[in-house]
Amino acid sequence: MNLPADLGTPCALVDLDAVERNTLAMSERVARLGSRLRPHVKTHKTVEAAKLQVRGAFGGITVSTLAEARFFAQAGFRDITYAVPIAPARMREAIELGRSIDRLSLLVDSELALRALQICSAAQQVRTPVFLKVDCGNHRAGVDPTSLSARKLAAGLAASKHLDFRGVLAHAGHAYACRDRDEIARVAREEREVTVGFAKSLRAEGTRVDEVSIGSTPTLSVADDLTGITEVRPGNYVFFDAFQAAIGSCTLADAAFSVLTTVVGSYPDRHRLVVDAGALALSKDPGPRHVDADAGFGQLLSEPGELQAGLRLTALSQEHGHIEGGTGGDLSRFPVGTRLRVVANHSCLTAALFDRYLVVRGRELVGSWRPLRGW
Ligand SMILES: Cc1ncc(COP(=O)(O)O)c(C=O)c1O
Repeated sequence: MNLPADLGTPCALVDLDAVERNTLAMSERVARLGSRLRPHVKTHKTVEAAKLQVRGAFGGITVSTLAEARFFAQAGFRDITYAVPIAPARMREAIELGRSIDRLSLLVDSELALRALQICSAAQQVRTPVFLKVDCGNHRAGVDPTSLSARKLAAGLAASKHLDFRGVLAHAGHAYACRDRDEIARVAREEREVTVGFAKSLRAEGTRVDEVSIGSTPTLSVADDLTGITEVRPGNYVFFDAFQAAIGSCTLADAAFSVLTTVVGSYPDRHRLVVDAGALALSKDPGPRHVDADAGFGQLLSEPGELQAGLRLTALSQEHGHIEGGTGGDLSRFPVGTRLRVVANHSCLTAALFDRYLVVRGRELVGSWRPLRGW
């Protein structure tokens, strides 16, 4: 990589070739499995990467904040799903925003939210598109699909004249607890079966369910059957990261996002280095410790991209990254001023710490992207 020698570090690098490979592979995979890709854009929050994600897809996207919904609506995206249960205090704002595009779908998983959304929609004289969020095993948000209350809530959504009930939506976040592709495949099957099964039971009771939406990067990287699934919403696959590589969603070579950092302290006699990327440049995501207890805070590469298997990023303070070299290696190869790259554990959190990504193609710096920030 021929990056300028005076580039200020830490800085965020995006490998454009890898982003193009990752986005194309996911679009082709979802098309082959007969579903529609509604990619999540929260990992990068840039118009440039979102446009690559929707190439070959129908154009709809998924967001995780209303600020993203506004930003991407202004950039021309017209069919957006806000895939976090909406706070009542922001319903009015969301409905107004939805008026400026074809469809802004919202999520609810409680009677209380349903009622608040009905009142807001009636007041603004709109029919708000809405999904019922379903817990398919992640146990974060969503209704229990085996419960009577879930079926009652779905019927209530479908019956409301102020709401346009789109269908059911689940996210297999528990795939991140898997250790390999076989385990991910089991979670992917569960994600599909639970969500499709719930939709079928609602239909059997006379509730119309158009959309059955699932998706995470691990499950969509492994799933071989999307029967009954109308839409999928992976997002992290644009960049992937060290966590995804550890559990088998990708290889480290697929990681498209890294942080360039400089050795600012070199202590070969103590087998330690200090770099200028700390928690505020990498985030403190603990990473795939269930797979690799020594994973540290990411994988270290040389600036051109060779894995430095002997180096471990063991601790982070605010602006310091602490690297241990073990007793076998000779750290005098990394004097002060040496640049390294870190493929962090969780690219979504790490990317969110930067207000600009430098875009690299091959060995050349070809531009920069400005991500959205805020809520
Ligand atoms: C509801 C929902 N859908 C889709 C995604 C995308 O999943 P991933 O980040 O694994 O690609 C997320 C991520 O958190 C999510 O919360």
